[in-house]
Amino acid sequence: MYDLLIRDGTVITASQKTEADVAVKDGKIAALMAPGAKAEARETVSAGGMYILPGAIDLHTHLALPFGGTTSTDDYESGTRSALCGGTTMVFDYATPEDPEEPLVDFLERRQAMADAQVCSDYAFHLVLNHPGEKVLSELPQVMEKGVTSFKVYTVYDGMMVDDGFFFRLLEKSKELGGLVCVHAENKDMIDLYVERYKQEGKLSPWYHYMSRREFIEAEADIRCIHWAKELDAPLYIVHLANKEGVEALEAARNQGYDILAETNPLYLRYNCQIYRQENGRNYVCSPPIKGEESRQKLWQALKAGSIDTVATDHCPFLQAEKDWGLHDFTKIPNGCDGVETRYPYLLSEANKGNIFFEKVVETCCTNPARIFGCAPQKGTVAVGSDADLVIYDPAKEVTVTNDILHSKIDHTVWEGTKLTGYPVQTYVRGGLVYRDGQFLGSAGSGRFIKRAPYRKA
Ligand code: URP
Ligand code: ZN
Ligand code: ZN
Repeated sequence: MYDLLIRDGTVITASQKTEADVAVKDGKIAALMAPGAKAEARETVSAGGMYILPGAIDLHTHLALPFGGTTSTDDYESGTRSALCGGTTMVFDYATPEDPEEPLVDFLERRQAMADAQVCSDYAFHLVLNHPGEKVLSELPQVMEKGVTSFKVYTVYDGMMVDDGFFFRLLEKSKELGGLVCVHAENKDMIDLYVERYKQEGKLSPWYHYMSRREFIEAEADIRCIHWAKELDAPLYIVHLANKEGVEALEAARNQGYDILAETNPLYLRYNCQIYRQENGRNYVCSPPIKGEESRQKLWQALKAGSIDTVATDHCPFLQAEKDWGLHDFTKIPNGCDGVETRYPYLLSEANKGNIFFEKVVETCCTNPARIFGCAPQKGTVAVGSDADLVIYDPAKEVTVTNDILHSKIDHTVWEGTKLTGYPVQTYVRGGLVYRDGQFLGSAGSGRFIKRAPYRKA
């Protein structure tokens, strides 16, 4: 006897679409059967006309992050609640140490205790190495043992950034340990130069956030980071890649056989930099900023071609009043936007409209994230033995995004007004129903920390 049977839907994975009934037992997918196959279950759900998809994984969130003079609005509860209501069943948070003296494992345990009490979805940590030095490098083996197998560095932000020497040492060490280095790549010196220049010229609108971090400033940093990784033949994952020249450098390195991976953000696919000229342009301020139309087109092309591996949100929202700090000065706007609830519906809607294959959306939002970050096949697919993290998707449901329909703590959304064709109507985590037709049905503290395996090249 199964616990749950989802009948008559079309199952979509990264590789195929099939008509199948999905049987769940003890939180796992127990069988994929021909439609109508004889089976008994405690509960049967009809998914006629619907798609059955893997729950998505958001590889890039900043929950309760002290940043930009405040703390990002969503905590572990509201961020994961919001994720589930958009079909995302696992989030990765960038755990960011505050005290440089505290052992990294102690910090992770503290953060995990805090998250465990709050999370509604399953989750994992990437560890941010914001206090570069030999101390953190020497602690990485213990961090790996805790199932935290990816490390993030920033080449920007005072008090967080690392220098080339540390970055190079980290790539070496991480390769030796089986970790994966994730990098936020922009050229800090060039940003500072432009910001100073624009301040002196009184150019303080959000447009100058883009101008001070425009295409070549990100591209140069991407190219340098790729260069170091190639030198060491070390794997490297570039987070929130936003510019065309960076994508071209990525593609060139991959064509030479190097293990350079990349993520982009749905905001960079949806908008171009003209958004910063809008009256509410400050709400779209994030770093790297949204780039020009040529970059947007290139990101779409690379995503479809497979040279961009994942789409993740960089969910790091701030309240309107906080965004308003920069009404007259872009340098005072806390950097970051929302996205955890809208990413999967947006990309699936693009698939529904024929702009990308459904399989590619599943690959970049579910299967590649799980594979690259060491939690496949437990997560990221619909297969016998995998966790029953499932989404029932209604391809006919028309939704216009407004902040009212979202489930986070934010008071505005950069996705306001976006018209979607198709929407998740039910979400299951390990076989339990946590969302149905606009209603959150899960509970805080029910999510689990997922220990991850070391990185392995595909
Ligand atoms: O603007 C952003 N992206 N804020 C969050 C921190 C980061 O850079 O990822
Ligand atoms: Zn970043
Ligand atoms: Zn980020």
